[in-house]
Amino acid sequence: MCGIVGYIGHRAAQPIILKGLQRLEYRGYDSAGIALFDGARIRLSKTKGKVSDLQEKINSDHNNVGNIGIGHTRWATHGVPNDTNAHPHYSNSGDLVIIHNGIIENYASIKKELSKRGYTFQSDTDTEVLVNLIEDVQKNGGFKLGKAVQIALNQVVGAYAIAVIDIKKPNEIVAARLGSPLAIGVGENEYFIASDASPFIEYTNDAIYLEDEELAIIRLHKETKIRKIKDDSLVSPYIQQLKLNIDQIEKGGYAHFMLKEIFEQPQAIKDTYRGRLLVNQGLIKMAGVEDNLEKFINAQKITIVACGTSWHAGLVAEYIFEDLARIPVEVEYASEFRYRNPVISAKDIVVAISQSGETADTLAAIKLAKAQGAFVFGVCNVVGSSISRETDAGAYTHAGPEIGVASTKAFTTQITVLTMMALRLAKAKGTISNSDYKRHLVELETTPTKVEQALKSDALSKQIAAVYKDVPNALYLGRGFNFPVALEGALKLKEISYIHAEGYPAAEMKHGPIALIDEHMPIVVIATKYGHYEKIVSNIQEIKSRKGKIIGIVTKGDTEVKALADHVIEVPETLELLSPLVTTIPLQLLSYYIAVLLEKNVDQPRNLAKSVTVE
Ligand code: F6R
Repeated sequence: MCGIVGYIGHRAAQPIILKGLQRLEYRGYDSAGIALFDGARIRLSKTKGKVSDLQEKINSDHNNVGNIGIGHTRWATHGVPNDTNAHPHYSNSGDLVIIHNGIIENYASIKKELSKRGYTFQSDTDTEVLVNLIEDVQKNGGFKLGKAVQIALNQVVGAYAIAVIDIKKPNEIVAARLGSPLAIGVGENEYFIASDASPFIEYTNDAIYLEDEELAIIRLHKETKIRKIKDDSLVSPYIQQLKLNIDQIEKGGYAHFMLKEIFEQPQAIKDTYRGRLLVNQGLIKMAGVEDNLEKFINAQKITIVACGTSWHAGLVAEYIFEDLARIPVEVEYASEFRYRNPVISAKDIVVAISQSGETADTLAAIKLAKAQGAFVFGVCNVVGSSISRETDAGAYTHAGPEIGVASTKAFTTQITVLTMMALRLAKAKGTISNSDYKRHLVELETTPTKVEQALKSDALSKQIAAVYKDVPNALYLGRGFNFPVALEGALKLKEISYIHAEGYPAAEMKHGPIALIDEHMPIVVIATKYGHYEKIVSNIQEIKSRKGKIIGIVTKGDTEVKALADHVIEVPETLELLSPLVTTIPLQLLSYYIAVLLEKNVDQPRNLAKSVTVE
């Protein structure tokens, strides 16, 4: 986690870095700092808190010098969030300054060695150890900055995206990565460094994404030199043309990114299936699937690995794949899979789902699956992300940037991609009739309109939120395809309003959670009109007899649940298999409004970060 930004060029560095850090706050926001270099002096300002607190600190420090600088927004790993542990960190001489996203796992032993040689440390961070190791290498070997960074990095174990400035090398920033993302924006006589492209998109569309174990020496008026950290070989930089535009990363009139992203879902789903779902021709065209169709058809099983909301999308996919394509599916938390000696073979397919494409556990799970011979398919949103590069093939969700920490459009677009995959495989395997296949294609194409209709529950969700905003606990129940939606609804409430919530399969309630129900407990029940409707109505009766408060998510026109529930939110009718795409909408809105009414920081909930690049 953590966001890093650097600038070297002809403009004042400070405003570019601060704005960039604000855009990267989704990666961490417990402290922030900046180092500015005017060619003679490096000045540093840092503080506990958000980038807005840093802005105030800079004003009081009168720190606005120079055309070179680096900045950092932190998600603490080593050392509590405070001013001292905030980045950037100086080396002992004060000549070097560093920012770092990642973890140096062997920092304790290096620190011990450096301490013996007289180095002292102000902070509890692993990063301060790294900058002093670089200084030590420089001193002992007389190396220039780039070489010293390279030698030092060969001694560390862990993950990093770093940028380093040396007072003796005006006009130069050295950057490197292993396991944490790092993009270099290439402008006219200027360079930007950042954890993703959002800090520099209004200045340039040209970007170099560093690969793992690469180090870049970025000099003003010179071409960037990239080397492999281990063997010192030169790499020719590949400059990508980015398609991102500035509107996509601004709030566009919405109070929060989360609300904007909830409302973007009709368009995001369309963008996901555009060019892939060809209803008139009766086709689904996904290059990554088509090129590997035989492998998918002959797969012994599909194992889905993911974390958090992406794991919930994986659970929905399990139901869809098994129902349509009759392929056995297992869904695993990536963090468990990677450490539990799973049985995976060359006959298996592993599908990794990740919005950011940077989640450390998912990345490690992919590497493990590949090492055991599995074919690994990625479903990612962020183009060029580590997971999209590490997988054998894949499909992007094309949801556009998701900035709110709570995932919303990532979930629905992941389900859209996975549904298209399942339909394509079902067709190829002959496990779906032609008429059913057609019906699903047509219905999937109308989903954006149905999501738009579901979004009309906005005002009602706000009213219901006002009734329940002060409860300490909530339950979410669903069955079949909507059981994972219940889990996702509970996660959304927990993470942004800090209200304890649990998702359960509705029938499982009587094996324990029913004991929690009394007149104070709100229970959100997804009770849309499908195969399990009668069963879920019985579950609602059971809740009712124990005086629980029921918020029913029902199909438009429903009367039965309406007669029993305290509140109902209607969603349009669709195929059961596609219903998670509409039922999840009111749950997102409900959580959003509860958090807003509780005055929580919706886009940046406490303790969380958007990209979880540590395990
Ligand atoms: C929840 C949320 C997280 C992520 C999880 C995986 O709203 O955002 O649970 O879903 O950290 O992240 P990705 O999908 O980027 O791998």
